Formats: sequence, C-alpha cells, structure tokens
Amino acid sequence: MKDQTKCVQTRDKDEDIACINLPLYRGVIYRHKDFTHQPGQFAYARCATPTTEALGDLVADLEGGVKGFTTSSGMGAISVVMKLFHPGDHIIVTADLYGGTYRYFHDYLQEYGFEFTYVDSWNIEEVEAAVRDNTKCIFIETPSNPSMHVTDLAAVSAIAKANDALFVVDNTFLSPYFQKPLSFGADVVVHSATKYLGGHNDILGGVIVAGNQELADKIFAIYMAEGNNLGSDDAWLLIRSIKTLAVRMDRQQENALAIYAYLKTFDSIKDVLYVGDPTREDYELSKRQTTGFGGMISIRVKDKTKIQKYLQSLKVFSFAESLGGVESLATYPWTATQAPIPEEQRNATGATEDLIRLSIGIENVEDLKEDLRQAFEQA
Ligand SMILES: Cc1ncc(COP(=O)(O)O)c(C=O)c1O
Repeated sequence: MKDQTKCVQTRDKDEDIACINLPLYRGVIYRHKDFTHQPGQFAYARCATPTTEALGDLVADLEGGVKGFTTSSGMGAISVVMKLFHPGDHIIVTADLYGGTYRYFHDYLQEYGFEFTYVDSWNIEEVEAAVRDNTKCIFIETPSNPSMHVTDLAAVSAIAKANDALFVVDNTFLSPYFQKPLSFGADVVVHSATKYLGGHNDILGGVIVAGNQELADKIFAIYMAEGNNLGSDDAWLLIRSIKTLAVRMDRQQENALAIYAYLKTFDSIKDVLYVGDPTREDYELSKRQTTGFGGMISIRVKDKTKIQKYLQSLKVFSFAESLGGVESLATYPWTATQAPIPEEQRNATGATEDLIRLSIGIENVEDLKEDLRQAFEQA
C-alpha cells in the first residue's frame, strides 16, 4: 500500500460497528482479564490507549519501523530516546539543529555527565573524526535547521554501525511522506508531530519510531516509566491530521518550488536556501534519499537592519515560530528557535543573523508571492 492510502486507513477495529474513523478512547483505565498483562491488552493510559497506540502504529507504518510511541511533544520524544544512554556516553550531534534540542542536550544532559560533539554532519569526514571509544549515538537532523544542509543518511549509518552506536534521526522537517531514515540504516526516528504530522498549528505532540523490537521494548519501558504519553484527544486529532499529510505536503512543496525560484529574483535577498534547488551540490543526494524536498526555505537578506520591518510588513505570512502547518510562517531563528545555541556555532553552520526561515503553507501561491514581494522589495 502506498503512503497516500495508508494515511487515510485508520478505521474502527470493531468489525460490527465498522465506523470509518477510529473511535476516540478517552478512558485512562481498562478492566483486567486476569493477573497477567497480555500483549495488546490495555491497562493504563500512561502505557497506551487504543487511540495513542493507533497513532503510533500509523506513524511506524509510514516510517517502516516496528513500533511507534506517542509523546506529549517533540521534545518529549527526544527526551525519552536520550534515556537509552547514560552519563559518560558520548553523542555526536548535527551542529545546525533545532535550538530547543541543543538546550536540552547542553543545559541538562551535559550537566548530568553526557558528552556531546557538534559536527557538520553533512561532512562525513567530520562525523567519522568525531567518533570516540565511548560514542554511543549519532543524532542528526536532515535537512538541517535552519541552514538546510543535507546529511547522507546511509553514510552516517555506516559510521554508527561500525562503532556500535545508535543512529537517531529527527525527521520533523520532511516527515515520513518524503523521507524514511530507517530504510537508510537509522535505528530510531523522532518527530515533533506539532509540525507536518499535525499540520494545522493546533496540536502539540511527538512520536518515536523504533527500527527493531529490542529497541522498541527498551523505549516502551522508559516512556511508560517517565509518563510521557500524549493525551488521547490529541492523538485522535493527529490521526485525523495525517489523513491529509500527503495532499498537504505535496501542495506545500509545489508552493515552495515556485516561491524559492521567485525569491531568487529579489534585489533584497542574497541567498535562497532550498533543498529542491537543482544547482545545489547535495541535490543528487536529496533525490537519492528522499521522495520530496518539503516546504522549508531559508533566505539571507542583504540588509539585516531591515529584517524586523520585512517581517512586520508581511500580511499573509505570519511572523511566528514553528513550521509545517497549512498557514505560511516567517521565523527569525536568530532571536527565536536558534537563540539557545552559541553565536559561534550558529555562524559556523550558516544560521546567521541575516537569515529568515519560511515555512510554506497551502495558500494560493500568487498570494504568497505577492506578500513576499510587497514586504521584501518595498519595505
Ligand atoms: C526539528 C525539530 N525537532 C524537535 C522540535 C521540538 O518539538 P516540540 O516543539 O513539539 O516539542 C522542534 C520544534 O520546533 C523542531 O523544529
């Protein structure tokens, strides 16, 4: 079955009622059948409800994994996965990544004795050179956030495997509709479901997908102990949102392809960063490991003193954080999403002070182009 079909197939499991949609199970507790807890039997919502389990299964199916777990947020997903590791373990991380993930790693896990090395993961020699005897994990985002560097998934997986490290990919930017890291050797995938999976900027959630049963068992034990599960209402809404994942992402990409080309003609803009740009060095790599380029574009402006004016002039785009929803957004990473990362690291990876990140929505593309024109060329 193709992804477009899988996305809409989460139905009632009760064959007699046979509702076309999955019912919402709000209940926290479920009657025991006997003293043992059988697989597939529900007991308590911190472990799973039929609704959260259906969402986990759906995303696992789209990612090609063995089991999916739903969490209260994307950071909740990342924090569960990091409990697979221990103080003294060394973790290699993409240097250009979501600032909140950096904050969690640096301000908390590092305090607890985890060791981190931030690398340009799109440069495979750098990843290889960062490996130490105690390296237990390589954690990447591709495309990177917000500088849009593309990391070779198969090459990083080979390094991880050769060194007995787990390979974890944050697949938020492209979603399983465009990128399936497990099929290129990743062990675990995490998502901020708040973004493309949710798609409407109205649900906070996360998903973890395990690539094998042993990891699924370990992740389940941690997540159940920590109490990180998503509420059933939000899980149900996410299942509904995913029904339109394919059409939303196709449309967001179609708009993004037109907009990146249009932005290249602006006098006020010096650089347009979009992974679907065929002149990029990593274009062939993107084509090899993804089925689409997504809807995220970053731009570098010539005059950074005008950035606030540009953002305030936008009328269709909203000047706001986050990404992946049907509404187009313009974010200023320097003071928002990337602020927790040291300036030196941001500048080195290209997440510079003159950069604006655009999340392209599903609006009429001519309206979006006109909005960008009046804001950037006239402000
Ligand atoms: C790539 C990426 N990963 C993880 C997160 C964290 O997700 P959440 O905000 O749902 O906790 C974000 C949030 O912006 C993100 O952009």
